[in-house]
Amino acid sequence: MSFLNGATVGFDTKNNKAVFVDQTLLPNEYREVSTDSFTQMYDAIKTLKVRGAPAIGVFAAISLAVLMNNSTAEMYDVLINELSEFSRELCACRPTAVNLKWATEKMLAAAQNSNAQNFKRNLTECALQIMEDDITVCRKIGEYGAEILKDSRSFLTHCNAGRLAAVKYGTALAPVYVMHEQGKDIHVFCDETRPLLQGARLTSYELTSAGIDTTVICDNTASYVMKKGLVDAVLVGCDRVALNGDAANKIGTSGVAISAKHYGIPFYVCMPFSTFDPNIPNGDLITVERRDGNEISEMWYKKPMIPTAAKTLNPAFDVTDNSLITAYITEKGVFKPKELKNICR
Ligand code: MRU
Repeated sequence: MSFLNGATVGFDTKNNKAVFVDQTLLPNEYREVSTDSFTQMYDAIKTLKVRGAPAIGVFAAISLAVLMNNSTAEMYDVLINELSEFSRELCACRPTAVNLKWATEKMLAAAQNSNAQNFKRNLTECALQIMEDDITVCRKIGEYGAEILKDSRSFLTHCNAGRLAAVKYGTALAPVYVMHEQGKDIHVFCDETRPLLQGARLTSYELTSAGIDTTVICDNTASYVMKKGLVDAVLVGCDRVALNGDAANKIGTSGVAISAKHYGIPFYVCMPFSTFDPNIPNGDLITVERRDGNEISEMWYKKPMIPTAAKTLNPAFDVTDNSLITAYITEKGVFKPKELKNICR
């Protein structure tokens, strides 16, 4: 029996559990996991069982509500200290995606506006609201995107910024879902996205499940299909966008943007405003998460596939220069890089 019913994360308020789809098992196995254990929540975010910037933000908010509902503390000061400590630890495990910080700060603000009596109820309501808002925001991105892309049919995307990376719809794939609903004949190239294969495993899984024509390509095939004229537009998500529009997203995104510029193909970053970080003036100041080298050398292979003497370098993200970005498709409309500052004001 599915609790999530098509969503990626959820809040089982009856049993006080955070629920998530274990994405490390996809596409071969679909498993929903229910938990109220901090260790399991932390591990889920750290090991990418739950991943994608909006999804980890929502999941962190739900996790905090579940953890605090189980707290035995009665004094307001103790409750807020426990909440702050859980928030700090969850935020530290994925430093690039600003949604994590955004969501935990919203939970802390809800706590600050509470007292010992309504603390738990307010946090539960705040987490449910963050989850509902994510669905509404992604749907809006889909609608604005479908409008601006109405003459495009073939897309290329990198990593997974679809429904598995949010609660429903996703960001970069939201316009694709809306156009598919409108009966348009859409095709999507998914970059496989080394080293963790979010494109090959996850994007192709969710698109084919929705009946959308999907082709998986090796990352190094992206410029080939662009040169052949097979791509009308590139759609990607983001993990943190600086004030000047520089956008951190899965490693390899910047190379895709450079190729798109070369071939005159529009490059859109789909961005909920929860991913916009006006406190960071430009992308050089975005902290890029470094992950374990075994994701490159061993994870997908029966035997290690590089010599033990060789080193690895495994940054999880890169930053695409704002000059390579055609526009940001957001829940408030579609904006050029220079317009972001004004929206923020
Ligand atoms: O390391 P991941 O899989 O969490 O990285 C995810 C991405 O880079 C996504 O493109 C990004 O979070 C946008 S999700 C709508």
